[in-house]
Amino acid sequence: MLRSWLKPAALALGCLLMAGGAARAQEEAMPKLPDVKWSFAGPFGTFDRASAQRGFQVWNEVCSACHSMKLMSYRNLAGIGLSPEQIKAIAASKTVPGEPNDQGEPTTRPGQPSDTFALPYPNDKAARAANNGALPPDHSLIVNAREGGASYIDGLMVGYVDPPKGVKVPDGLYYNKWFPGHLIHMPAPLSDGSVTYADGTKATLQQEAKDVATFLYFASNPHMEERKHMGVRIVGFLALMCGVTYGVKRRIWADVH
Ligand code: HEC
Repeated sequence: MLRSWLKPAALALGCLLMAGGAARAQEEAMPKLPDVKWSFAGPFGTFDRASAQRGFQVWNEVCSACHSMKLMSYRNLAGIGLSPEQIKAIAASKTVPGEPNDQGEPTTRPGQPSDTFALPYPNDKAARAANNGALPPDHSLIVNAREGGASYIDGLMVGYVDPPKGVKVPDGLYYNKWFPGHLIHMPAPLSDGSVTYADGTKATLQQEAKDVATFLYFASNPHMEERKHMGVRIVGFLALMCGVTYGVKRRIWADVH
């Protein structure tokens, strides 16, 4: 009786321990992401609007050539402090699908603030065909979809290094220190001077990486500031109520000795 379950149990335990060990070994092989100070971290975090605007410039000029952001509309850019005029101009510079014409043929038109971001490819097959078979993932929620969040995006941008000795990088793949498995289909998208910042900030690789990660964080968490303000107000209210109920309790029980 005892022996019949002892063996499978021991086997299961062994497997678990081995899997745990393997997982830990993999974690150890992945170097720690650089420690970046994010304006949006912590309970009082806010978006660094200047950085998010520069990040949008990087995304718009570089990343949008391959990546979509299907859940974002041009008018949502008000959240990083762009004015209605700026948003109108950005939207109008894009070409989006229009109504079919009288012959039923597809047409295009300039974008409007209410349009979602223009797509880089007409469909996923076209996207794969242009990227060696790999699909550039949609960026709407990418910060929330990856362990490490904004720090991972930042690391991925600066993580293109020479492969360690003995590691062969096949054609069409690139070595990245922070990408799980290290071999990625995306060529290094950024380098010093990839953009000329509208606000005059020096466009180093590190600056561009931090800015684009800030913008992508905003895209994934557009309501972060309201959420945190609400949290702070609720905690304040609860603290106040705590004081009031304590006062009331003392009052009520004051005569009982
Ligand atoms: C030339 C096309 C191209 C450009 C430009 C490009 N990417 Fe990519 N990106 C890809 C492809 C292809 C993949 C899929 C890689 C893979 O799965 O191996 C990818 C994947 C990613 C991923 C997901 C990595 C993961 O963990 O799965 C992120 C994040 C990313 N890109 C960010 C960016 C950012 C930010 C920019 C702009 C600074 C950018 N990309 C510009 C093609 C591109």
